[in-house]
Amino acid sequence: MKNEWKRIWNSKKTEKDILELEDILKLNGYDTRFAGDFAKIFIKRIKDVTKYFHFKPEDIILDAGCGAGAFLWFLKHQKIKFKNYIGIDYSLSLLEAFKHNPYYSNSLTLLNSELAYIPLQNYSVDKIFCYSVFLYFENIQYAIKVLNEFDRILKYNGEIIISDIPDINKKVAHETFRKSLIGEEKYNELYKNLHHLYYDRRFFLNFFKSKYHIEIFDLHDINYPNSLFRFSVYLKRK
Ligand SMILES: C[S@@+](CC[C@H](N)C(=O)[O-])C[C@H]1O[C@@H](n2cnc3c(N)ncnc32)[C@H](O)[C@@H]1O
Repeated sequence: MKNEWKRIWNSKKTEKDILELEDILKLNGYDTRFAGDFAKIFIKRIKDVTKYFHFKPEDIILDAGCGAGAFLWFLKHQKIKFKNYIGIDYSLSLLEAFKHNPYYSNSLTLLNSELAYIPLQNYSVDKIFCYSVFLYFENIQYAIKVLNEFDRILKYNGEIIISDIPDINKKVAHETFRKSLIGEEKYNELYKNLHHLYYDRRFFLNFFKSKYHIEIFDLHDINYPNSLFRFSVYLKRK
């Protein structure tokens, strides 16, 4: 099956000099039609997800699939202290847009790369945050390459959060819901080459079981209906 997500992400651009969080979220592909104030919903969700992280001022944080930098916006807005922020994304146009994020500075590291080949050294980051990215991967083999990269670059005692992962057990219900929003015909036309990849929770449990403490959790929020069909994973390296 053809996967055209990369082309879509590479077409996201902005004309604005300074982006508001709403602009960043729109560039990052969030469908804001469900609620009046999607920015507030997003901040609450990220607060709930990152509760699992033990942030430290000396942290080197990797935002894997950073888009235009909504997570950096969150870290700064919440006054979370860290040493370095590294953003990686395969979309050059989104990394260009990132430079219009009010919290962008040229001391940040932005890398244009596929997550399957992360240009960072072994044991070089303390935290990996990966929100709403795994659904765009081509197949499970690609996801395995990404997990191997995360494992390679994470320091001892490092932590990973992978969130907004489509649940294979809810695939039929989710697709039925998504079709109901725009009608089946339009859905089939629009998403012909834009599939989402669904995962079994056991995929993450089995991959990480011996080296990591692992927790799988749900973050259901009716204001973000996709969340009803998705799950999140917290990992701490033993
Ligand atoms: C829905 S956006 C999420 C952006 C950001 N994580 C957030 O939560 O606001 C998905 C992002 O993942 C990036 N992405 C998807 N697949 C990728 C891959 N294989 N390698 C690198 N970046 C990828 C896209 O370019 C896009 O910026």
